[in-house]
Amino acid sequence: MKSVWFRYLLSFGFPILLTACTQGNNAPSSGGNAPSSGGNSGGAISIGIAVAQTSNVALLGQEQVAGAKLAEKYFNEKGGINGTPIKLVLQDTAGDEQGAINAFQTLINRDKVVGIVGPTLSQQAFSADPIADRAKVPVLGPSNTAKGIPEIGDYIARVSAPVAVVAPNAVKAALKINPQIKKVAVFYAQNDAFSKSETEIFQQTVKEQKLELATVQKFQTTDTDFQSQATAGMNAKPDLVIVSGLAADGGNLVRQLRELGYKGLIIGGNGLNTSNLFPVCKKLCDGILIAQAYNPSQPNAMNKGFRDAYLAQYKKEPPQFSAQAFTGVQVFVEALTTMSKANPTMKVNAQPIADLRVGLNKQLLAGKYSTPLGEISFTPTGEIVQKDFYVAQVKMDADGTNGKFTFLK
Ligand code: ALA
Repeated sequence: MKSVWFRYLLSFGFPILLTACTQGNNAPSSGGNAPSSGGNSGGAISIGIAVAQTSNVALLGQEQVAGAKLAEKYFNEKGGINGTPIKLVLQDTAGDEQGAINAFQTLINRDKVVGIVGPTLSQQAFSADPIADRAKVPVLGPSNTAKGIPEIGDYIARVSAPVAVVAPNAVKAALKINPQIKKVAVFYAQNDAFSKSETEIFQQTVKEQKLELATVQKFQTTDTDFQSQATAGMNAKPDLVIVSGLAADGGNLVRQLRELGYKGLIIGGNGLNTSNLFPVCKKLCDGILIAQAYNPSQPNAMNKGFRDAYLAQYKKEPPQFSAQAFTGVQVFVEALTTMSKANPTMKVNAQPIADLRVGLNKQLLAGKYSTPLGEISFTPTGEIVQKDFYVAQVKMDADGTNGKFTFLK
């Protein structure tokens, strides 16, 4: 009797338990109504958003959720995809690879989304993107700036310009502010794919600018104590410090360098590009230079719409991570709209999901988009083609509670 029950449990209960475990707290906003065709959730087209809503990486992911949700509202108010609304399905990736894999699998297999905007980290993308690529589900990386992301596969593209085109701008801006810079101390998180990729570009730029790479110090994104690296960095007597890490670790490293008495310029990489950095280094964040792939003053109409919506809701200028997530949703919406217009007799969300995903990938790579990031398009590999980049400097209020990014001319 016992063994019959056991077999019964094994055949039904165990797989159900497994499914429940992998879903975790990631209940989708579609409420589990798995659409069977066309990414169609209650008449709407489902677009997956797989970013970090929890963990330290949520310092970046929160801004992505804000940008994606503004896009959902914005495009639905404009009529969605030829009258069919879009619906975002959010799955929290948290900060690691397994979280991203779980989120991608749920979005692909259960939520049947038409495409995915995510994940937050390149480190996660290298694990999760191949799953979407094998399932032929288009992915738009909203913030994955490491070298090699679009090359993961045919279904992987990004709206986040790579380190090679963004990072050098910060070094050039530092030299403009202080032409006397000679010695550079570089710090990077050695357990993070993006940080490793970015530091390579920073170190190469340092050499190209004929500066002395005085020391290279490594840390982990999980570190909170940077005394030994900061002390070693200080001993090299740099007049420029460059940090490639994420917001929490990067912010703590900046704070500890300043507390040890470092007075020179500091460049933060793309992982520090959030005002969520401010509570970490407070007043000591002041002056950090960060290269930007977005400028709130970008004059086109789409940016105006995005910026006005962001300002109305959050009472501050929109950050780069929000602008990029908005852009990811926009690219899906506009590519789907083009498909729907090309074939007016067929409702986009009535197509079998597999066909829709394949068609969408092809269409999105072929399009040109006027986005908050400016005019963008893609190479056949899925690399973003973007024109304008900027550098901003952190300006903290005297008491160190509030701050802003001031764009340099
Ligand atoms: N740009 C960072 C990354 O690619 C967030 O991981």
